Amino acid sequence: MNYDVEKQNIINKIKEVTTLQQLNEVRLYYVGKNGLISNLRSNIKNIPNEEKKEYGIKVNELSNCFEENYNIKKEELETLEVDKQLQKDKIDLTMPSYSFSSGSSHILEKVIEELEEFYISMGYDVVEGPEVEKDLYNFEMLNLPKGHPARDAQDTFYIKGDEWLLRSQTSPVQVRTMLENKDKTPIRIICPGKTYRRDYDDATHSHQFMQMEGLVVSKDISLSDLKGTMNLTAKKLFGEKVETRFRPSYYPFTEPSVEFDVSCFKCDGKGCNVCKNTGWITIGGAGVVHPNVLDMSGYDHNKYQGFAFGFGIERITMVKYGINDIRTFYTNDLRVTNAFNQREGE
Ligand code: DAH
Repeated sequence: MNYDVEKQNIINKIKEVTTLQQLNEVRLYYVGKNGLISNLRSNIKNIPNEEKKEYGIKVNELSNCFEENYNIKKEELETLEVDKQLQKDKIDLTMPSYSFSSGSSHILEKVIEELEEFYISMGYDVVEGPEVEKDLYNFEMLNLPKGHPARDAQDTFYIKGDEWLLRSQTSPVQVRTMLENKDKTPIRIICPGKTYRRDYDDATHSHQFMQMEGLVVSKDISLSDLKGTMNLTAKKLFGEKVETRFRPSYYPFTEPSVEFDVSCFKCDGKGCNVCKNTGWITIGGAGVVHPNVLDMSGYDHNKYQGFAFGFGIERITMVKYGINDIRTFYTNDLRVTNAFNQREGE
């Protein structure tokens, strides 16, 4: 074999290669299992002893020649591959981006969060209560014994018998909180959550709606503390200009009881369609916690007083955003959700 010719062959073969696959084929041809160089190596046993040394040197030279050229070519081709890939993956930063929509909170959730933040800033805790509730907490311990006529105002979903029900108001959380705190004061809580009544759904009624309950129990609490709190709440919700007024009302769990109104933030009390020309908008109910309720929940009414309030989240949201059908909140119409997202971004 003419080793110099063979060397030149190696150099030429590798030079011609343009892909990694071709290069691999050349590799197999020379140093694969039956490759030319591999065979020369295994043939050494047939070479007479005195020629072995020189034979070995020649084969090694051939092998080194292959290795050298192979490695250079391999690196060259690999760099080329990477360049090709980079070219393919190239990003044009001047291209206009896709706009994609992301999820966001429901408008009722936003109003709840706004209120929570506000009450937390005044030192209130946010608590939760179960939606499947006991008649005992939803009614009896709120001074509404069985047969009390005021129960009719809250036509209730009972669950098997008359012990368990879907809570018709968030007020039972008052009782639960007092029972848990066992005579400790002050209590300052709000409880937002779902409530249920056997109403036919229409523009202003929904069999499931949301309320936010508030309860403060301490010493020397009076109606004026409630008035101050409701004033701040109204301003937070509807703007600095609004005023509040209390109208006498009746709730079995408060005495005295009031309904609280805010002056119409749209017409400044002059009269418009939002306030139905009265200049005032009713927001919720409230009052001084009834002595019976305090006593039943372990707070001696001679030592402690409290105030409580409750309002409908949908009602507030409808008034605030000029929505005239409560069902709007529950139809999951994306156009409505998007409208509120846009308002937020404005
Ligand atoms: N739970 C009452 C309702 O659903 C609202 C309410 C009124 C809550 C007076 C109160 C309150 O805590 O003191 O109509």
